[in-house]
Amino acid sequence: MSDPQPMLSLRDFSVSFDTARGPLYAVRNVDIDVADGESLGIVGESGSGKTVLSRGAMGLLPKRAAHRSGTVIYDDHDLSEAPRKELREYWGTGMAMIFQDPMTALNPVRKIGSQLTEGLRIRLQMSKHDAKARGLELLHRVRIPDPDAVMEKYPFQLSGGMRQRVMIAIALACKPRLLFADEPTTALDVTVQAQVMQLLSELRHEMGMSMVIVTHDLGVVAGHTDRIAVMYAGEVVEIAPTKRLFANMQMPYTEALMKSIPRLDTPSGQRLPVISGRLPDPTQPETGCSFASRCPYVTDKCRAEAPPLVEVSPGHSYRCWFPIGGSR
Ligand SMILES: Nc1ncnc2c1ncn2[C@@H]1O[C@H](COP(=O)(O)OP(=O)(O)OP(=O)(O)O)[C@@H](O)[C@H]1O
Ligand SMILES: [Mg+2]
Repeated sequence: MSDPQPMLSLRDFSVSFDTARGPLYAVRNVDIDVADGESLGIVGESGSGKTVLSRGAMGLLPKRAAHRSGTVIYDDHDLSEAPRKELREYWGTGMAMIFQDPMTALNPVRKIGSQLTEGLRIRLQMSKHDAKARGLELLHRVRIPDPDAVMEKYPFQLSGGMRQRVMIAIALACKPRLLFADEPTTALDVTVQAQVMQLLSELRHEMGMSMVIVTHDLGVVAGHTDRIAVMYAGEVVEIAPTKRLFANMQMPYTEALMKSIPRLDTPSGQRLPVISGRLPDPTQPETGCSFASRCPYVTDKCRAEAPPLVEVSPGHSYRCWFPIGGSR
């Protein structure tokens, strides 16, 4: 039996920006599928291209400066060349996004109620009365206590965790089939982070949605995803089912990310190993492996030649000449 058609399929997907220093290659030749009902994590450090990839898939990039190439197929529709007017039909009801910074994504001078009901009134043409009722139901669904009072509040009157729940309610308002959650918990403290991740997982199951969780923290997605794609310098450098990635990672970059996850037994105050060095300059593509300048296992071959993506087992691929699981 062949695999069912994925909900979202990106092929050879790239995004570059025009900058004063020439083209900046933010996302490079990415192939990713998201299956119906699946939860996919996209993990990588700041600047690796996670937000540009997600926004690019949805068609939410600045029109003039951004160049997309490759294909984007959503639910059998080829959106690669679709004009914004057509993409708009899929926003909210097909694909929705929880944006990275809830303080800027929410309008500070409008009450929560009006921001929450706006999409329902415009996209679903609901009456004011029905939109309010649905808005209250949504706040209830994201476990916000006293929804009536929250509808009348402004964003600054809510805690970070409550604001993030409001963002989730807004994204879910039109019952999307695929939700992108871009760093949904970064601004929150650890306990609230765990609650918000738990909530997202529950909502995904309840609503039968697919979800893409974008984060720099491998620990955040460990228990909440079916598969994880690790991004580095705009490329997917390793992708695998979550359990398999943790048990059998191949890329030295994935290993470095893993070492930077705080553990319960890490004494408080102890600094975690951070990956030394910086991402390569995205306006100057490397000739060899993009991780070569920071990799503890680097060889001359790595600096000279970019490794291709190879599959070690079904659904597990990586880009490395000298994988951790192989012989060194
Ligand atoms: N509008 C833009 N114009 C020019 N360059 C951009 C633009 N948006 C993003 N970039 C660049 O694209 C690259 C990828 O950025 P992106 O925001 O996707 O990273 P990220 O992985 O989401 O990082 P973070 O974890 O900090 O959110 C970076 O080099 C960034 O500076
Ligand atoms: Mg980002």
